[in-house]
Amino acid sequence: MRTAIIRGKELDQETVCDALALFFSSDFLGFEDISPVRLNTADVIIVDLCKAGDGDLHRLRARRAALEAFPRIAIVTKGHRTEIQQAEALGFAYIHFADDPVGTLVKRVRDLGAPRPLSALPDGFSRPMAAAYEKTGAVLEDMHLASITDSPIPVDRSKEGARDLLNVLESDGVHAWLKAVKTHHSPTFGHSLEVAGLAGWFANELGWTRSECLQVTAGGLLHDIGKSRIPLAVLDKPDVLNEAERDLVRKHAEFGYQIIKHRTEVDNETKEIVFFHHELLDGSGYPFGLSADRISLKVRLVTICDLYSALTEERAYKETLSPRQAIAVMNKMDRKIDQDLYRTFRSLILPREGFGRVQRA
Ligand SMILES: [Fe+2]
Ligand SMILES: [Fe+2]
Repeated sequence: MRTAIIRGKELDQETVCDALALFFSSDFLGFEDISPVRLNTADVIIVDLCKAGDGDLHRLRARRAALEAFPRIAIVTKGHRTEIQQAEALGFAYIHFADDPVGTLVKRVRDLGAPRPLSALPDGFSRPMAAAYEKTGAVLEDMHLASITDSPIPVDRSKEGARDLLNVLESDGVHAWLKAVKTHHSPTFGHSLEVAGLAGWFANELGWTRSECLQVTAGGLLHDIGKSRIPLAVLDKPDVLNEAERDLVRKHAEFGYQIIKHRTEVDNETKEIVFFHHELLDGSGYPFGLSADRISLKVRLVTICDLYSALTEERAYKETLSPRQAIAVMNKMDRKIDQDLYRTFRSLILPREGFGRVQRA
């Protein structure tokens, strides 16, 4: 599903529209950019009328015919009679108040948009892979939605998605999964899908029980849930973060724990994965600088997968490392990460022949 978000360029603060980009591929357009060609790929159009000037409204009226071909939602300021009247006069059937929860808006967009395709994956992936990608992606969206709307985290569905993911990791191999998740529109969601796949695959290679494999896979899906509290402008910033932004991003482990700490549907080991996945065994991690004896094996495993994913992912502000370059960086982490786990991970993850199935030794 794709949204086109039309808003004035003078808006300098994060709005409810920015959060939509986490859930849908979104094109941000100015009022002067409205044209059938620019709107062509959208399933739903959202127009932010807050602070729209006379010129913006004039452009909207002039291009009304182009907009009417799509389901569309107007964002207005609550209690602002003029904006509400303008939205009605422009033929918007759906109005969302700017201060209302983003979850309500996400649900509305989903209701109005085209039904979810079987898979957003390009050709070349197996059907089970496409289905697992679709299911785990949807679970991830729903978990983030639950975190921002204060509704129950869909734990059963995340376990179901983890089960399907483990099955395709066995049939198609982890490298096919890593290739698939690179296509996700959201770098944040793509990363969580990647960590989930790496964790499930690695635990399976280590011979852990099925339920342990499921737990770290589902834990990988959930581990960065706290990022739902960090503005997308920071998470997806194309430049290097400043110190304040870096501190804010580092808070995501605490935010994640705050989101799930009272949720009885999430078990304690999964809570530890969320809270402690940036802790390092020599005490140099965050948020607490825990010592090694406080960090469980499951957390250690997710940490290794998380580090590898972060080093190899493509982000505008940093160099993308190849698997071998990432392993060279992790080799220097020495006592920070569990060396027994890491040595095995290293021997398994490097592709032997391009993107083939990793063979058991
Ligand atoms: Fe994290
Ligand atoms: Fe992460």
